[in-house]
Amino acid sequence: MSFDMILTETRGAVGLITLNRPKAMNALCDQLYTELGVALHAFDDDPAIGCIVLTGSEKAFAAGADIKEIQAKTFQDVYAEEFITKKWEEVTKLRTPVIAAVAGYALGGGCELAMMCDFILAADTAKFGQPEITIGTIPGAGGTQRLTRFVGKSKAMEMVLTGRMIDAVEAERSGLVSRIVPAAELLEDALRTAEKIAAFSRPVVYMAKEATNRAYETTLAEGVRFERRLFHASFALEDQKEGMAAFAEKRKPNFKNR
Ligand code: HXC
Repeated sequence: MSFDMILTETRGAVGLITLNRPKAMNALCDQLYTELGVALHAFDDDPAIGCIVLTGSEKAFAAGADIKEIQAKTFQDVYAEEFITKKWEEVTKLRTPVIAAVAGYALGGGCELAMMCDFILAADTAKFGQPEITIGTIPGAGGTQRLTRFVGKSKAMEMVLTGRMIDAVEAERSGLVSRIVPAAELLEDALRTAEKIAAFSRPVVYMAKEATNRAYETTLAEGVRFERRLFHASFALEDQKEGMAAFAEKRKPNFKNR
């Protein structure tokens, strides 16, 4: 695969995607988003890949939508081209887990992209914000919805209404990120975490991701019912037999991963 605005590489069973538009703080223009969607689906379709890491640069994961590209768009334009819906949400359509490894700025659409991933690992340099209000618009890629679910109404409302950025410590304290790591160790940590996930049974990882995501989309009773069905289904897998046999026999499991 060869792209202009992202870099892709494979590290064992992990697909690594690096946003690479340094002159514009990885601002998310149409081309970048198109390339990102292609790369995400290519990794998702590759049976050798069990987890994806999405990262940016030291300075910026992504500083949001490309303001210069979208500033002149009319209502007619954004409505007719289904701006956002059509390309921006590809990362939410994958069965393969995606870890966002965030250093520096994750602003506007950049924060929204990170939140669309399955979880966020933050460098101690990370800064998150929804500054759209400062440029005359509102978050449009799920920011008002996902941020509120992550950090609660009060902090989300303050961030959305004032554009205030939060640092990694505040982001971790409020549940936006799973962990903070020193910036120099971010990528290695993210890759190590991804390798761990990729070594588990592939279908069981898909089930775990699907069930956890249900928590955001339905009632508790429905979510628990959904989880129970997938939990039962996992007993139909060879990998469940192998995993539990390995525990009983005090050895490492050898998952078939298919
Ligand atoms: C286009 C951007 C950009 C953006 C930075 N750049 N962010 N270009 N769109 N979102 C460009 C700058 O114009 C500049 O280019 C270069 O990147 C370096 O940026 P500087 O501002 O000089 O760097 P710095 O002073 O370090 O400040 C970094 C920053 C700031 C705090 C990240 O750039 C900033 O506030 N950016 C905008 C953040 C924002 O408002 N994001 C929300 C966008 S709206 P030149 O050519 O001048 O050197 C959005 C809506 C999403 O995301 C809805 C879904 C589509």
